Amino acid sequence: MKPEDPRSEKLTCKLIDKLEKEHDLTEKEMSALLLDKDPETDRYLARKALEVRDRIYGRCVYLRGLIEFTNYCKNNCYYCGIRRDNGNAQRYRLEKEEILDCCRQGYALGFRTFVLQGGEDPYFTDDRIVSIVSGIKECFPDVAVTLSVGERKKESYQRFFDAGADRYLLRHETADPDHYRFLHPEEMDFDHRIRCLEDLRSIGYQVGCGMMVGSPGQKTEHLLRDLRLIQSFRPHMVGIGPFIPHKDTMYAGQEPGSVALTLRLLSIIRLMLPEVLLPATTALGTLDPRGREKGLMAGANVLMPNLSPSEVRGKYLLYDNKICTGDEAAECVRCLSFRVEKAGCKVVVSRGDHKRFQNESDE
Ligand code: 5AD
Ligand code: FES
Repeated sequence: MKPEDPRSEKLTCKLIDKLEKEHDLTEKEMSALLLDKDPETDRYLARKALEVRDRIYGRCVYLRGLIEFTNYCKNNCYYCGIRRDNGNAQRYRLEKEEILDCCRQGYALGFRTFVLQGGEDPYFTDDRIVSIVSGIKECFPDVAVTLSVGERKKESYQRFFDAGADRYLLRHETADPDHYRFLHPEEMDFDHRIRCLEDLRSIGYQVGCGMMVGSPGQKTEHLLRDLRLIQSFRPHMVGIGPFIPHKDTMYAGQEPGSVALTLRLLSIIRLMLPEVLLPATTALGTLDPRGREKGLMAGANVLMPNLSPSEVRGKYLLYDNKICTGDEAAECVRCLSFRVEKAGCKVVVSRGDHKRFQNESDE
């Protein structure tokens, strides 16, 4: 705490100083910080988060080229637009060659990480995923491959890793088992999801977890549990974004999550885990036209523009009104670079590994 700073007189500012120094707060303190309504708290929190981010990563923003390669899903998460029972979703899959085409285009645009994201689609057997991952690595040996294909067996995760996958995103969605039950049907299991995250980390992946902010039924106590989980699991990446209703789900009429609370959580997570890779998500940009810039200004340092072919963009709809569904990849990159500059940062061409995974080839 800097005694000369009048703002640090305020209780919540003291808490922010403590969070910066100790990377943790008690449950009561964290709750006070989450519930405080004073915009001054947001400003002070974001300022501290930026200081920490700049110290670790500078002003660099890492781009991840997102390839949404299938919207078939065997699951039925109540909130998600591509859930199995949504008969209105227009389903599609990309074949390996189409995925490689996306990568070619992305590589030329400067991407050095490709994120393969999809629903839990049984068509994509372990063999098919292995073939796609090794295909990408053969063509582009200097890129990182991130998978986001849901829950699989540990053996499968190991095979993908051996084929060259570097990172894995699997949001935990909520750290509260009862809330998890509220958001997912019987056949999905919170403990299994956590086991998957542990398997991924033990194999050696850079792992990302995360949750939606303002998901149906979410209370402050759930967010506190999310933060505690993030604190103890110490992921390399954390994906958070506001919940946005989808018209064909049972939560169609729900209020979306709060942009302000999402920004506050981004800053808190930056202070808890200074080295974390933290995206400003498309969902944030969907709810607020300047959402992604605001995310960067709150401590985020990753953007994930869409590299999927334009014909399928408008079909990977987890929520309503998703942005960037009509743009060409090159257009998205131009638009994002402009936004990054407006947020006082610069886009860098590098794999952008977590600090603990960086080697000489990665600036
Ligand atoms: N609103 C916001 N985010 C959503 N996701 C799924 N459905 C929605 C929604 N309606 C998030 C989930 C999932 C990630 C890929 O997208 O957290 O893990
Ligand atoms: Fe596909 Fe939830 S609906 S993982």
